[in-house]
Amino acid sequence: MVDMEKIVSLCKRRGFIFQSSEIYGGTGSCWDYGPLGVELKNNVKRAWWRDCVQLRADMVGLDSSILMHSRVWQASGHLDHFTDPMVDCKFCKGRFRADKLEDARCPQKPSKQPGQHETCQLTEARMFNLMFKTFMGPVEDDAAVTYLRPETAQGIFVNFENVLQSMRMKLPFGIAQIGKSFRNEITPGNFTFRTREFEQMEIEFFVIPGTDEDWHQRWIDERFAWYPKYGLRKENIRLREHDKDELAHYAKRTADIEYLFPMGWSELEGIANRTDFDLKQHAQFSGKSLEYFDEESKQKIVPYVIEPSAGADRGTLAFLVDAYTEEEVRGEKRVVLNFHPELAPLKIAVLPLLKKNDRIVETAKKLMLDLRKRWHTVYDDTASIGRLYRRQDEVGTPFCVTVDVQTVGDDKGAADNKVTIRDRVTMQQVRVELDSVAAVMEKLMAGQWGEIAAEHGVKKSASA
Ligand code: GAP
Repeated sequence: MVDMEKIVSLCKRRGFIFQSSEIYGGTGSCWDYGPLGVELKNNVKRAWWRDCVQLRADMVGLDSSILMHSRVWQASGHLDHFTDPMVDCKFCKGRFRADKLEDARCPQKPSKQPGQHETCQLTEARMFNLMFKTFMGPVEDDAAVTYLRPETAQGIFVNFENVLQSMRMKLPFGIAQIGKSFRNEITPGNFTFRTREFEQMEIEFFVIPGTDEDWHQRWIDERFAWYPKYGLRKENIRLREHDKDELAHYAKRTADIEYLFPMGWSELEGIANRTDFDLKQHAQFSGKSLEYFDEESKQKIVPYVIEPSAGADRGTLAFLVDAYTEEEVRGEKRVVLNFHPELAPLKIAVLPLLKKNDRIVETAKKLMLDLRKRWHTVYDDTASIGRLYRRQDEVGTPFCVTVDVQTVGDDKGAADNKVTIRDRVTMQQVRVELDSVAAVMEKLMAGQWGEIAAEHGVKKSASA
C-alpha cells in the first residue's frame, strides 16, 4: 500500500489537490482541488449521479441550501447528539478525540499516543458539538443563530413533501443530493479523508415500513458493487456492520463500506436504515404532516428511509490511492495513476513528435480540437516523447496520440495519414488511420484495447 505522503506530494506536484490558504501557512483541515483534481472529483460525482439518479426510474435529484432554519437541527437531533468527546492536554496544549486516542499522536517526541508520555496531563472528556455556528442576518443575537449543515440529508427530509407532490412520486422512491457539508472535527487529518469542509453524495430512499430491511440489503449490495465498477480493487473494500452500541440515534442497522486507505481500513460510505425517525421528527417540530397515502392499503403511513451516504472527497481519495502504481520500466521508475477512463481527469493527450514541423503541428492541433468535442483532450509539445508519456502516466491519462513525420509525409516519403495511439496500462502502441481516431477512441474508452491491438497489430516502439 502506498504512503499517504506520496499521494499528497503527487497531488500537489501535478495539480490535483493543494492545501487551502497555503501562502498563509495553510489550514490543516481544508483542501483545494486544482485543475486536475476538480476534473477527477467532478467525474466521480458525475458517475455517481448518472448511476444513482439518471439511470433509475425511482430516483430524483435535489440541490438544497446549506443554511437552513435552526429548528431543523433541533428536530434532527444534531443539537443534542452531534457531539464527540474531547480531551485537552494541559502540558502540550494538544486537543484530541477521547474515543480515538489510539489513532492520535502526541506532539511530543518520540511519537506516542496522547497520555503515554510521563508529562501528558489529559483533562476529563467533555462533549463538543461538531456543528459550525453562524448568524443569519446582520444582528448577532441568539435568535439569529444558525448552523452550516453537517450533512446534506436534512435538506432532503424537509423537502420530502415538496418532491412527493411536485413530481407525483410513489413509494418506493429516493431523493439524491450532492453538496458541501461542514463539521468542526476535533482531529481532522489523513489528507482529504477527514476535513472540516467536505462534499457528500447522499440518497434518502423512502420505502413502505416492513419492506425496509429488504431495501436496506439491496442498497448495501448495490453500493458495494459500485466502487469496483470504476476500478477500485475488490480486495481493498469490505463491509463492516455497526455494533448495536455504535449505531447512530436514528439507525436500526448500519453497514459501512470500508476502504484500505494507507492508514488502514476506514469508512468510505455508510448505508443506514434510518426508520421513520427523521420524517416523524420534522412533522412534530414543524407541525406539518409528512405522511404518505398508500393506495394499496388505503392508509396514511410514514415511510421508512434507507440512506446510502458517501463522501465525494473520500471516494476521490480512494480512487487516487487505488490507482497509484510504481513500476520499473527499462531500469527507470514509472509512476502511473491507473484510473478508469470514466474517472481520468484527462482522457487523451495529443503529442506532436516534432514541434518545429508545421505540418505535424497543424495536424496534431486539428486532431486535438476534433477529439476535444467529445473527450477532455490536451496538447503537449514541451518535452521529448518519452517524458511526455511519463507525464501523462503520472496524471492517469488513458491514451496518448502521437503525430509524426510519417503521418504527414516529407521529402523522403508520402504521408501515411496514420497516427500512433499508446495505451497507458500496457504501454503498447497501435497505428491507426487519422480519420478513424475518434471511432477507435470510442472503443478504447469502453475498455477494448485488446480488440483494437489485435485488429491493428501492436507496433514496435523505442519510446514506451
Ligand atoms: N447523513 C449521514 C451521514 O452524514 P456520516 O457517516 O457521518 O453519515 C457519511 O457521513 C459520509 O460522509 C462518510 O462515509 C464519509 O465518506 C463522509 N464524511 C463524513 N465526515 C467527513 C469528514 N469530516 N471529512 C470528509 N468526509 C466525511
